[in-house]
Amino acid sequence: MTRYDLVIRGGTVATAADVTTCDIAVCDGRIVALGEDLGPAEEVIDARGMVVTPGGVDAHCHLDQPTSDGSRFADDFASGTISAAFGGTTTVIPFALQMRGQNLRDVVADYHAKAAGKAVIDYGFHLILSDLTRPEIMQELPALIAEGYTSFKVYMTYDDLKLSDRDILDVLDLARREGAMTMIHAENTDCIAWLTERMLREGKTAPLYHALSRPAAVEREATHRACTLAEIVGTTALIVHVSAGEAIEQIRAARARGLRILAETCPQYLFLTIDDLGGPGAQGMKCICSPPPRDKANQELVWRALADNTFDILSSDHAPFSFDDAAGKQRRGPDTPFTHVPNGVPGIETRMPLLFSEGVLKGRIGLSRFVALTSANAARIYGLPRKGSLAVGADADIVIWDPEREVMITNGRLHHRADYTPYEGRMVTGWPAVVLSRGTVVCRDGALLARPGQGRFQARSRPLTPATGGAADGYRGRPRG
Ligand code: URP
Ligand code: ZN
Ligand code: ZN
Repeated sequence: MTRYDLVIRGGTVATAADVTTCDIAVCDGRIVALGEDLGPAEEVIDARGMVVTPGGVDAHCHLDQPTSDGSRFADDFASGTISAAFGGTTTVIPFALQMRGQNLRDVVADYHAKAAGKAVIDYGFHLILSDLTRPEIMQELPALIAEGYTSFKVYMTYDDLKLSDRDILDVLDLARREGAMTMIHAENTDCIAWLTERMLREGKTAPLYHALSRPAAVEREATHRACTLAEIVGTTALIVHVSAGEAIEQIRAARARGLRILAETCPQYLFLTIDDLGGPGAQGMKCICSPPPRDKANQELVWRALADNTFDILSSDHAPFSFDDAAGKQRRGPDTPFTHVPNGVPGIETRMPLLFSEGVLKGRIGLSRFVALTSANAARIYGLPRKGSLAVGADADIVIWDPEREVMITNGRLHHRADYTPYEGRMVTGWPAVVLSRGTVVCRDGALLARPGQGRFQARSRPLTPATGGAADGYRGRPRG
Protein backbone atom coordinates (compact mmCIF):
# COMPACT_ATOMS: atom_id res chain seq x y z
CA MET A 1 0.00 0.00 0.00
CA THR A 2 1.28 3.49 -0.89
CA ARG A 3 2.46 5.50 2.07
CA TYR A 4 1.94 9.15 1.27
CA ASP A 5 4.09 11.97 2.60
CA LEU A 6 0.98 13.87 3.64
CA VAL A 7 -2.77 13.49 3.68
CA ILE A 8 -5.07 16.46 4.22
CA ARG A 9 -8.17 14.84 5.54
CA GLY A 10 -11.84 15.64 5.06
CA GLY A 11 -11.78 19.30 4.03
CA THR A 12 -14.24 21.13 1.79
CA VAL A 13 -12.03 21.06 -1.28
CA ALA A 14 -12.59 23.83 -3.82
CA THR A 15 -11.21 24.20 -7.32
CA ALA A 16 -12.25 26.53 -10.11
CA ALA A 17 -14.46 23.69 -11.36
CA ASP A 18 -16.23 22.38 -8.28
CA VAL A 19 -16.47 21.99 -4.51
CA THR A 20 -16.41 18.59 -2.86
CA THR A 21 -15.44 16.94 0.42
CA CYS A 22 -12.44 14.64 0.17
CA ASP A 23 -8.88 13.87 1.25
CA ILE A 24 -5.84 15.08 -0.65
CA ALA A 25 -2.67 12.97 -0.74
CA VAL A 26 0.75 14.47 -1.41
CA CYS A 27 4.06 12.84 -2.36
CA ASP A 28 7.29 14.61 -3.32
CA GLY A 29 5.60 18.00 -3.33
CA ARG A 30 2.83 17.05 -5.75
CA ILE A 31 -0.79 16.03 -5.35
CA VAL A 32 -0.99 12.31 -6.10
CA ALA A 33 -4.55 11.39 -5.12
CA LEU A 34 -7.92 12.87 -4.19
CA GLY A 35 -10.57 10.65 -2.64
CA GLU A 36 -12.04 9.25 0.53
CA ASP A 37 -10.11 7.60 3.34
CA LEU A 38 -6.70 8.02 1.73
CA GLY A 39 -3.71 6.81 3.68
CA PRO A 40 -1.53 5.85 5.39
CA ALA A 41 0.74 8.90 5.47
CA GLU A 42 3.78 10.25 7.28
CA GLU A 43 1.73 13.28 8.29
CA VAL A 44 -1.99 13.88 8.45
CA ILE A 45 -3.63 17.30 8.65
CA ASP A 46 -7.20 17.18 9.85
CA ALA A 47 -9.12 19.62 7.67
CA ARG A 48 -12.64 18.68 8.70
CA GLY A 49 -14.69 21.87 8.99
CA MET A 50 -12.03 23.72 7.00
CA VAL A 51 -12.02 24.94 3.40
CA VAL A 52 -9.16 23.78 1.19
CA THR A 53 -8.20 25.82 -1.88
CA PRO A 54 -5.22 26.02 -4.19
CA GLY A 55 -2.55 28.40 -2.98
CA GLY A 56 -3.09 31.86 -4.36
CA VAL A 57 -1.26 33.14 -7.42
CA ASP A 58 -0.74 36.87 -7.08
CA ALA A 59 0.05 37.91 -10.61
CA HIS A 60 0.51 41.61 -9.98
CA CYS A 61 2.78 42.79 -7.19
CA HIS A 62 5.86 44.97 -6.93
CA LEU A 63 8.77 43.71 -4.83
CA ASP A 64 12.14 45.41 -4.51
CA GLN A 65 11.46 47.39 -7.67
CA PRO A 66 13.86 50.24 -8.44
CA THR A 67 12.44 53.75 -8.68
CA SER A 68 13.71 56.87 -10.40
CA ASP A 69 12.48 59.44 -7.86
CA GLY A 70 14.22 58.43 -4.63
CA SER A 71 11.21 56.59 -3.22
CA ARG A 72 11.70 53.02 -1.98
CA PHE A 73 9.42 49.99 -2.07
CA ALA A 74 9.07 48.68 1.46
CA ASP A 75 9.19 44.98 0.63
CA ASP A 76 11.91 42.84 -0.80
CA PHE A 77 11.50 39.21 -1.83
CA ALA A 78 11.78 37.99 1.78
CA SER A 79 9.22 40.22 3.49
CA GLY A 80 6.98 40.35 0.42
CA THR A 81 6.75 36.60 -0.03
CA ILE A 82 6.40 35.96 3.72
CA SER A 83 3.50 38.41 3.81
CA ALA A 84 2.00 36.80 0.71
CA ALA A 85 2.22 33.34 2.26
CA PHE A 86 0.49 34.36 5.49
CA GLY A 87 -2.40 35.59 3.35
CA GLY A 88 -2.67 32.32 1.42
CA THR A 89 -0.61 33.16 -1.66
CA THR A 90 1.95 30.55 -2.73
CA THR A 91 3.14 32.00 -6.04
CA VAL A 92 3.91 35.60 -6.90
CA ILE A 93 4.70 37.16 -10.24
CA PRO A 94 6.30 40.55 -9.53
CA PHE A 95 7.68 42.83 -12.19
CA ALA A 96 11.22 42.93 -13.45
CA LEU A 97 11.38 46.59 -14.41
CA GLN A 98 13.44 47.80 -17.34
CA MET A 99 14.79 51.24 -16.44
CA ARG A 100 15.26 53.33 -19.56
CA GLY A 101 18.49 52.41 -21.33
CA GLN A 102 18.73 48.99 -19.67
CA ASN A 103 18.91 45.82 -21.71
CA LEU A 104 16.51 43.06 -20.76
CA ARG A 105 19.12 40.44 -19.93
CA ASP A 106 20.51 42.73 -17.23
CA VAL A 107 17.00 43.38 -15.91
CA VAL A 108 16.31 39.66 -15.56
CA ALA A 109 19.70 38.99 -13.97
CA ASP A 110 19.09 41.77 -11.41
CA TYR A 111 15.74 40.29 -10.42
CA HIS A 112 17.11 36.79 -10.03
CA ALA A 113 19.73 38.23 -7.70
CA LYS A 114 17.05 40.06 -5.71
CA ALA A 115 14.88 36.93 -5.30
CA ALA A 116 17.48 34.21 -4.82
CA GLY A 117 17.90 33.12 -1.23
CA LYS A 118 15.01 35.29 -0.10
CA ALA A 119 11.68 34.06 -1.45
CA VAL A 120 9.75 31.62 0.75
CA ILE A 121 7.26 30.78 -2.02
CA ASP A 122 7.57 30.24 -5.76
CA TYR A 123 7.89 33.16 -8.10
CA GLY A 124 8.14 34.20 -11.73
CA PHE A 125 8.75 37.58 -13.32
CA HIS A 126 6.79 39.70 -15.74
CA LEU A 127 8.93 42.20 -17.61
CA ILE A 128 8.06 45.90 -17.62
CA LEU A 129 9.06 47.32 -21.00
CA SER A 130 9.80 51.03 -20.75
CA ASP A 131 12.32 51.61 -23.53
CA LEU A 132 12.26 50.08 -26.99
CA THR A 133 14.61 52.60 -28.58
CA ARG A 134 17.49 50.18 -29.12
CA PRO A 135 16.65 47.49 -31.71
CA GLU A 136 18.21 44.73 -29.61
CA ILE A 137 15.42 45.08 -27.02
CA MET A 138 12.81 43.60 -29.36
CA GLN A 139 15.37 41.08 -30.57
CA GLU A 140 16.04 39.86 -27.02
CA LEU A 141 12.39 39.25 -26.24
CA PRO A 142 11.68 36.00 -28.14
CA ALA A 143 14.51 34.21 -26.35
CA LEU A 144 13.35 35.56 -22.98
CA ILE A 145 9.80 34.41 -23.69
CA ALA A 146 11.13 30.95 -24.54
CA GLU A 147 13.02 30.96 -21.22
CA GLY A 148 9.83 31.54 -19.24
CA TYR A 149 9.23 35.30 -19.09
CA THR A 150 6.02 34.98 -21.06
CA SER A 151 4.31 38.23 -20.14
CA PHE A 152 5.17 41.90 -20.06
CA LYS A 153 3.55 45.07 -18.83
CA VAL A 154 3.41 48.30 -20.78
CA TYR A 155 2.34 51.68 -19.43
CA MET A 156 0.30 54.35 -21.14
CA THR A 157 1.24 56.82 -18.41
CA TYR A 158 4.08 57.75 -15.98
CA ASP A 159 6.81 59.85 -17.62
CA ASP A 160 9.60 57.37 -16.90
CA LEU A 161 7.68 54.31 -18.10
CA LYS A 162 5.13 55.20 -20.76
CA LEU A 163 5.33 53.87 -24.28
CA SER A 164 3.80 55.48 -27.35
CA ASP A 165 0.83 53.79 -29.01
CA ARG A 166 3.16 52.86 -31.82
CA ASP A 167 5.54 51.11 -29.41
CA ILE A 168 2.62 49.32 -27.78
CA LEU A 169 1.54 48.09 -31.21
CA ASP A 170 5.05 46.68 -31.71
CA VAL A 171 4.91 44.94 -28.32
CA LEU A 172 1.46 43.51 -28.99
CA ASP A 173 2.58 42.29 -32.38
CA LEU A 174 5.60 40.57 -30.91
CA ALA A 175 3.38 39.03 -28.22
CA ARG A 176 1.05 37.75 -30.95
CA ARG A 177 3.92 36.18 -32.90
CA GLU A 178 5.55 34.62 -29.85
CA GLY A 179 2.37 33.64 -27.95
CA ALA A 180 3.07 35.93 -24.97
CA MET A 181 0.71 38.07 -22.88
CA THR A 182 0.76 41.89 -22.81
CA MET A 183 -0.55 43.59 -19.69
CA ILE A 184 -1.60 47.20 -20.19
CA HIS A 185 -1.77 50.01 -17.63
CA ALA A 186 -4.54 52.05 -19.22
CA GLU A 187 -4.67 55.74 -18.29
CA ASN A 188 -4.43 58.67 -20.70
CA THR A 189 -1.17 60.40 -19.83
CA ASP A 190 -1.80 63.76 -21.55
CA CYS A 191 -5.18 64.19 -19.86
CA ILE A 192 -3.59 63.45 -16.49
CA ALA A 193 -0.77 65.93 -17.15
CA TRP A 194 -3.21 68.64 -18.25
CA LEU A 195 -5.51 68.17 -15.26
CA THR A 196 -2.55 67.96 -12.86
CA GLU A 197 -1.03 71.21 -14.11
CA ARG A 198 -4.36 72.96 -13.71
CA MET A 199 -4.69 71.68 -10.15
CA LEU A 200 -1.17 72.71 -9.20
CA ARG A 201 -1.78 76.21 -10.62
CA GLU A 202 -4.81 76.43 -8.35
CA GLY A 203 -2.79 75.24 -5.34
CA LYS A 204 -4.70 71.94 -5.15
CA THR A 205 -2.02 69.58 -3.89
CA ALA A 206 -3.85 67.44 -1.28
CA PRO A 207 -4.14 63.65 -1.81
CA LEU A 208 -7.73 63.92 -3.02
CA TYR A 209 -6.52 65.77 -6.12
CA HIS A 210 -4.59 62.70 -7.14
CA ALA A 211 -7.95 61.02 -7.77
CA LEU A 212 -9.44 64.11 -9.42
CA SER A 213 -6.48 64.35 -11.79
CA ARG A 214 -7.16 60.78 -12.98
CA PRO A 215 -10.94 60.60 -13.39
CA ALA A 216 -12.69 57.52 -14.73
CA ALA A 217 -12.85 59.08 -18.21
CA VAL A 218 -9.04 59.00 -18.37
CA GLU A 219 -9.14 55.27 -17.73
CA ARG A 220 -12.10 54.73 -20.06
CA GLU A 221 -10.36 56.37 -23.01
CA ALA A 222 -7.12 54.50 -22.46
CA THR A 223 -8.93 51.19 -21.99
CA HIS A 224 -10.76 51.78 -25.26
CA ARG A 225 -7.44 52.60 -26.95
CA ALA A 226 -5.72 49.56 -25.46
CA CYS A 227 -8.50 47.33 -26.80
CA THR A 228 -8.27 49.06 -30.17
CA LEU A 229 -4.51 48.51 -30.37
CA ALA A 230 -5.04 44.81 -29.59
CA GLU A 231 -7.77 44.68 -32.24
CA ILE A 232 -5.53 46.27 -34.88
CA VAL A 233 -2.79 43.75 -34.17
CA GLY A 234 -5.28 40.90 -33.89
CA THR A 235 -4.15 39.66 -30.52
CA THR A 236 -5.08 39.37 -26.88
CA ALA A 237 -4.21 41.79 -24.07
CA LEU A 238 -4.91 42.00 -20.37
CA ILE A 239 -6.04 45.29 -18.86
CA VAL A 240 -4.60 45.52 -15.36
CA HIS A 241 -6.06 47.15 -12.23
CA VAL A 242 -9.42 48.14 -13.68
CA SER A 243 -11.15 50.49 -11.26
CA ALA A 244 -14.39 51.79 -12.72
CA GLY A 245 -17.63 51.00 -14.52
CA GLU A 246 -16.69 52.98 -17.61
CA ALA A 247 -13.55 50.92 -18.21
CA ILE A 248 -15.50 47.74 -17.50
CA GLU A 249 -17.97 48.74 -20.24
CA GLN A 250 -15.09 49.13 -22.69
CA ILE A 251 -13.88 45.63 -21.90
CA ARG A 252 -17.35 44.17 -22.37
CA ALA A 253 -17.79 46.07 -25.63
CA ALA A 254 -14.44 44.83 -26.92
CA ARG A 255 -15.38 41.26 -26.08
CA ALA A 256 -18.74 41.74 -27.77
CA ARG A 257 -16.75 42.69 -30.89
CA GLY A 258 -15.01 39.32 -30.65
CA LEU A 259 -11.74 40.49 -29.09
CA ARG A 260 -10.01 38.43 -26.45
CA ILE A 261 -9.45 41.10 -23.81
CA LEU A 262 -8.71 39.83 -20.32
CA ALA A 263 -9.19 41.95 -17.23
CA GLU A 264 -7.83 42.26 -13.72
CA THR A 265 -9.10 44.18 -10.74
CA CYS A 266 -7.68 44.59 -7.23
CA PRO A 267 -9.00 44.80 -3.66
CA GLN A 268 -8.47 48.56 -3.50
CA TYR A 269 -11.33 49.00 -6.01
CA LEU A 270 -13.62 46.76 -3.94
CA PHE A 271 -12.81 48.06 -0.47
CA LEU A 272 -11.56 51.67 -0.79
CA THR A 273 -13.27 54.71 -2.25
CA ILE A 274 -12.22 58.21 -3.26
CA ASP A 275 -13.35 59.33 0.20
CA ASP A 276 -10.33 57.49 1.62
CA LEU A 277 -8.08 59.93 -0.26
CA GLY A 278 -9.89 62.84 1.31
CA GLY A 279 -9.09 61.73 4.87
CA PRO A 280 -7.70 64.14 7.47
CA GLY A 281 -4.24 65.68 7.02
CA ALA A 282 -1.84 63.48 5.13
CA GLN A 283 -3.82 60.28 5.77
CA GLY A 284 -5.24 60.22 2.25
CA MET A 285 -1.73 59.55 0.89
CA LYS A 286 -2.06 56.02 2.21
CA CYS A 287 -4.63 55.29 -0.49
CA ILE A 288 -2.93 57.03 -3.42
CA CYS A 289 -2.64 54.50 -6.21
CA SER A 290 -3.30 54.53 -9.93
CA PRO A 291 -5.93 54.24 -11.13
CA PRO A 292 -7.38 55.73 -7.92
CA PRO A 293 -10.24 54.22 -5.90
CA ARG A 294 -13.57 55.54 -7.21
CA ASP A 295 -16.96 56.23 -5.62
CA LYS A 296 -19.38 53.75 -4.03
CA ALA A 297 -21.36 53.29 -7.25
CA ASN A 298 -18.22 52.26 -9.14
CA GLN A 299 -17.21 49.99 -6.29
CA GLU A 300 -20.52 48.18 -6.73
CA LEU A 301 -19.94 47.91 -10.50
CA VAL A 302 -16.55 46.32 -9.85
CA TRP A 303 -18.16 43.81 -7.48
CA ARG A 304 -20.74 42.95 -10.15
CA ALA A 305 -18.08 42.52 -12.81
CA LEU A 306 -16.23 40.20 -10.45
CA ALA A 307 -19.32 38.05 -10.06
CA ASP A 308 -20.39 38.00 -13.73
CA ASN A 309 -17.02 36.83 -15.12
CA THR A 310 -16.00 40.16 -16.65
CA PHE A 311 -12.90 40.02 -14.49
CA ASP A 312 -10.56 37.11 -14.95
CA ILE A 313 -8.26 37.75 -12.02
CA LEU A 314 -8.03 39.59 -8.73
CA SER A 315 -4.45 40.63 -8.00
CA SER A 316 -3.12 42.71 -5.15
CA ASP A 317 -1.07 45.29 -7.10
CA HIS A 318 0.93 45.28 -3.86
CA ALA A 319 3.05 48.43 -4.23
CA PRO A 320 4.13 49.09 -0.66
CA PHE A 321 5.50 52.45 0.43
CA SER A 322 5.66 53.30 4.11
CA PHE A 323 3.67 56.31 5.27
CA ASP A 324 6.05 57.77 7.83
CA ASP A 325 9.14 57.55 5.71
CA ALA A 326 11.22 60.03 3.77
CA ALA A 327 11.45 57.40 1.00
CA GLY A 328 7.76 56.61 1.27
CA LYS A 329 4.46 58.43 1.02
CA GLN A 330 5.53 61.59 2.90
CA ARG A 331 8.66 62.25 0.92
CA ARG A 332 8.34 65.97 1.53
CA GLY A 333 6.63 65.75 4.88
CA PRO A 334 2.92 65.95 5.65
CA ASP A 335 2.35 68.51 2.89
CA THR A 336 3.93 66.44 0.14
CA PRO A 337 1.96 67.39 -3.00
CA PHE A 338 0.10 64.45 -4.53
CA THR A 339 2.40 64.63 -7.55
CA HIS A 340 5.32 63.56 -5.33
CA VAL A 341 3.58 60.83 -3.37
CA PRO A 342 4.66 57.40 -4.67
CA ASN A 343 1.72 55.51 -6.12
CA GLY A 344 0.57 52.22 -4.69
CA VAL A 345 -0.92 50.49 -1.67
CA PRO A 346 0.20 47.42 0.25
CA GLY A 347 -2.15 44.41 0.05
CA ILE A 348 -0.36 41.16 -0.74
CA GLU A 349 -1.47 39.51 2.53
CA THR A 350 -5.03 40.84 2.66
CA ARG A 351 -6.00 40.08 -0.98
CA MET A 352 -7.38 36.58 -0.42
CA PRO A 353 -8.84 36.98 3.09
CA LEU A 354 -10.75 40.10 2.04
CA LEU A 355 -12.30 38.35 -0.95
CA PHE A 356 -12.99 35.16 1.00
CA SER A 357 -14.80 37.09 3.72
CA GLU A 358 -16.60 39.77 1.74
CA GLY A 359 -17.03 37.87 -1.53
CA VAL A 360 -17.62 34.22 -0.65
CA LEU A 361 -19.05 34.39 2.84
CA LYS A 362 -21.27 37.36 2.00
CA GLY A 363 -22.65 35.42 -0.99
CA ARG A 364 -21.36 37.76 -3.71
CA ILE A 365 -19.31 35.05 -5.44
CA GLY A 366 -19.11 31.27 -5.15
CA LEU A 367 -16.11 29.44 -3.78
CA SER A 368 -15.11 28.13 -7.22
CA ARG A 369 -15.19 31.65 -8.58
CA PHE A 370 -13.00 32.70 -5.64
CA VAL A 371 -10.48 30.05 -6.72
CA ALA A 372 -10.71 31.13 -10.36
CA LEU A 373 -10.09 34.77 -9.46
CA THR A 374 -7.32 34.30 -6.91
CA SER A 375 -5.29 31.45 -8.39
CA ALA A 376 -6.60 29.26 -11.22
CA ASN A 377 -6.98 31.92 -13.87
CA ALA A 378 -3.69 33.64 -13.15
CA ALA A 379 -2.00 30.24 -13.39
CA ARG A 380 -3.57 29.63 -16.78
CA ILE A 381 -3.19 33.14 -18.18
CA TYR A 382 0.45 33.38 -17.14
CA GLY A 383 1.51 29.85 -17.99
CA LEU A 384 1.87 28.04 -14.66
CA PRO A 385 0.18 24.68 -15.40
CA ARG A 386 1.10 23.14 -12.04
CA LYS A 387 -0.30 26.01 -10.00
CA GLY A 388 -3.83 27.12 -9.15
CA SER A 389 -5.44 23.70 -9.05
CA LEU A 390 -5.92 20.72 -6.76
CA ALA A 391 -5.62 18.04 -9.43
CA VAL A 392 -3.40 14.97 -9.47
CA GLY A 393 0.00 16.10 -10.73
CA ALA A 394 -0.39 19.69 -9.53
CA ASP A 395 2.11 21.19 -7.11
CA ALA A 396 0.82 20.75 -3.57
CA ASP A 397 0.40 24.50 -3.09
CA ILE A 398 -2.55 24.41 -0.75
CA VAL A 399 -4.36 26.71 1.68
CA ILE A 400 -6.41 25.30 4.53
CA TRP A 401 -8.80 28.03 5.60
CA ASP A 402 -10.49 28.33 8.94
CA PRO A 403 -13.75 29.73 7.56
CA GLU A 404 -15.03 30.83 10.95
CA ARG A 405 -12.02 32.65 12.30
CA GLU A 406 -12.79 36.30 12.89
CA VAL A 407 -9.83 38.60 12.38
CA MET A 408 -9.44 42.32 12.75
CA ILE A 409 -6.98 43.48 10.12
CA THR A 410 -4.34 45.66 11.72
CA ASN A 411 -0.91 46.47 10.44
CA GLY A 412 0.56 44.82 13.51
CA ARG A 413 -0.69 41.39 12.48
CA LEU A 414 0.52 41.65 8.88
CA HIS A 415 4.00 40.70 7.72
CA HIS A 416 4.81 43.25 5.04
CA ARG A 417 7.29 45.99 5.88
CA ALA A 418 5.05 48.92 5.04
CA ASP A 419 4.09 50.77 8.20
CA TYR A 420 0.36 50.79 7.47
CA THR A 421 -2.46 48.91 5.83
CA PRO A 422 -5.31 50.77 4.14
CA TYR A 423 -7.66 48.17 5.70
CA GLU A 424 -6.76 48.96 9.34
CA GLY A 425 -9.57 47.98 11.70
CA ARG A 426 -11.64 46.05 9.13
CA MET A 427 -13.13 42.81 10.44
CA VAL A 428 -13.02 39.74 8.22
CA THR A 429 -14.21 36.18 8.70
CA GLY A 430 -11.99 33.35 7.48
CA TRP A 431 -8.20 33.27 7.45
CA PRO A 432 -5.57 30.78 6.26
CA ALA A 433 -4.72 28.34 9.07
CA VAL A 434 -2.14 26.29 7.15
CA VAL A 435 -0.38 27.21 3.90
CA LEU A 436 1.69 24.67 1.98
CA SER A 437 4.10 25.23 -0.85
CA ARG A 438 4.98 22.10 -2.86
CA GLY A 439 3.82 19.98 0.08
CA THR A 440 5.87 21.78 2.73
CA VAL A 441 4.15 23.82 5.42
CA VAL A 442 5.09 27.48 5.03
CA CYS A 443 2.80 28.93 7.71
CA ARG A 444 0.70 27.27 10.35
CA ASP A 445 -1.48 29.09 12.87
CA GLY A 446 0.43 32.31 12.53
CA ALA A 447 3.95 30.81 12.66
CA LEU A 448 6.38 30.94 9.75
CA LEU A 449 7.90 27.50 9.16
CA ALA A 450 9.63 28.14 5.84
CA ARG A 451 13.07 29.53 5.32
CA PRO A 452 13.96 32.25 2.86
CA GLY A 453 15.30 30.68 -0.31
CA GLN A 454 12.76 27.86 -0.33
CA GLY A 455 10.79 29.51 -3.14
CA ARG A 456 11.77 28.46 -6.65
CA PHE A 457 11.81 30.45 -9.85
CA GLN A 458 9.06 29.28 -12.20
CA ALA A 459 9.86 29.47 -15.89
CA ARG A 460 6.42 30.02 -17.33
CA SER A 461 4.83 28.55 -20.45
CA ARG A 462 2.61 30.33 -22.94
CA PRO A 463 -0.82 31.59 -21.76
CA LEU A 464 -3.92 29.37 -21.70
CA THR A 465 -7.61 30.32 -21.62
CA PRO A 466 -8.88 31.18 -18.12
CA ALA A 467 -11.72 29.30 -16.43
CA THR A 468 -14.76 31.13 -15.14
CA GLY A 469 -15.33 29.31 -11.84
CA GLY A 470 -18.90 28.07 -11.41
CA ALA A 471 -21.16 30.48 -9.56
CA ALA A 472 -23.49 27.81 -8.17
CA ASP A 473 -21.19 25.65 -6.10
CA GLY A 474 -23.41 26.04 -3.06
CA TYR A 475 -20.70 26.97 -0.56
CA ARG A 476 -21.61 29.88 1.66
CA GLY A 477 -19.98 28.88 4.95
CA ARG A 478 -22.14 28.51 7.98
CA PRO A 479 -25.04 30.99 8.14
CA ARG A 480 -23.96 33.98 10.17
CA GLY A 481 -26.26 36.00 12.36
O1 URP B 1 -0.45 52.90 -8.06
C1 URP B 1 -0.03 51.85 -8.46
N1 URP B 1 -0.83 50.98 -9.03
N2 URP B 1 1.29 51.60 -8.33
C2 URP B 1 1.95 50.48 -8.81
C3 URP B 1 2.38 50.62 -10.22
C4 URP B 1 1.31 50.23 -11.19
O2 URP B 1 1.02 51.00 -12.06
O3 URP B 1 0.77 49.14 -11.08
ZN1 ZN C 1 -0.06 49.85 -13.41
ZN1 ZN D 1 1.13 47.55 -10.25
